[in-house]
Amino acid sequence: MENKIKRHEFLKSLGLKGASLLAVYCGASALSSCQNESVTPASNVDFTLDLSNAAYSKLNTVGNYVIANGVVVARVSSTSFAAVTQVCSHEGRANVIYSGGGFYCTVHGATYSTTGTGTNSTGSRGIKAYQTTLSGTSLHVFS
Ligand code: FES
Repeated sequence: MENKIKRHEFLKSLGLKGASLLAVYCGASALSSCQNESVTPASNVDFTLDLSNAAYSKLNTVGNYVIANGVVVARVSSTSFAAVTQVCSHEGRANVIYSGGGFYCTVHGATYSTTGTGTNSTGSRGIKAYQTTLSGTSLHVFS
C-alpha cells in the first residue's frame, strides 16, 4: 500500500492526471487493481448443476454459493436459490459474490438483493438476475 501511495505521488509529481495516470497504473502488470478487465454479462444463460457432484454440493447448504459459467448461484433458503451474473453493473468487473444474504461486489462494495435490485448507491443500477428451478438434485439456471 505504501508503495502504491509513493508511486501515485511520484506520478502526480510528473504531472500525470486522470486517464493518463490510470494508463500508467494499468500498464504495470504486477498491479492487481487492473487485472480484471470490464466484461459484459451473458444474456443467454441455460445450464444445469448436479448438486450431488462434489463441485456443486456446497449448494445443499443455505448461505453457500458457487460460480459457474460466469454466474453466481447461491442457496438462499432451504427451498430457494438465487442466481446473478458475476459481472458487476458498477464498472463491469467480474467480482460479484454472495455474502450475508445478498450479492456483493468485492471491488468497490456494490450490493444487490437476491433478485438483482441494487441495495446501495454503488449498486444502484442493479444486476442481471437469472431464474432457477430444482428438480431432484438438478438445479437449472436459465435466463
Ligand atoms: S466494479 Fe463492482 S463495485 Fe465497482
